[in-house]
Amino acid sequence: MDVARAPFLTFEGGEGAGKSTQLKILAARLREHGAAVVETREPGGSPHAEALRELLLEGVVEPFGTSAEALLFAVARRDHVLSLIGPALERGEWVLCDRYVDSTRAYQGVGDIAPCDVLALEGIATNGIMPARTYILDLPIEEGLRRATERGDAGGLDRFERVPPEVHERRRRAFLDIAAREPDRCIVLDAGMDVESLAAEIWQDVTRKFERVIERRGEEA
Ligand code: TYD
Repeated sequence: MDVARAPFLTFEGGEGAGKSTQLKILAARLREHGAAVVETREPGGSPHAEALRELLLEGVVEPFGTSAEALLFAVARRDHVLSLIGPALERGEWVLCDRYVDSTRAYQGVGDIAPCDVLALEGIATNGIMPARTYILDLPIEEGLRRATERGDAGGLDRFERVPPEVHERRRRAFLDIAAREPDRCIVLDAGMDVESLAAEIWQDVTRKFERVIERRGEEA
């Protein structure tokens, strides 16, 4: 599969970090520059994967254990990659995805599943399609949970949000460890800053990393 044609970018981080807001702002800016952009999310993103999303977030799979949840995230991801992400990249469209493999590493990878098994699942699920750039929005746990509660999540915390603070803390550290191990792909950004400043930092990085692609699209538009 030729995926070199368009950039695949992912947004990662804990609860309340503002991933989806930043994804939307970036998508709009790219479109202003003539780019075709697909906005998507995980778990979900394709009709079959959206059905699995409900099972996962409602906690239907929880009794089967963390490994089983990791398996189901992989099933959903494989469908998403094969039916939406891969074909969009092949058409030359940018793909911006709210969460991807790093969420599995950070959320399920700290459970009872061996790291090598997480990576094996990742290979099957992604079909080798990895993001060119991953924005890890980092925020202190208390601030993230406060924001998530403020935006009205409190009434319906999903299975992965209903965990003690130390689990949120482990996930945060897991994201930072991933970034430290893969500095070419991942960039950690302080999600404590205001929305516009954060969007400006992301835009600066995108234009620096993908200058040629943006220029080419601008000329074609
Ligand atoms: P969502 O409502 O999209 O959360 P957020 O707004 O925080 O992104 O719910 C997705 C939840 O699923 C979130 O709590 C993280 C979790 N998740 C995993 O545990 N593993 C994964 O591989 C993915 C993609 C998500």
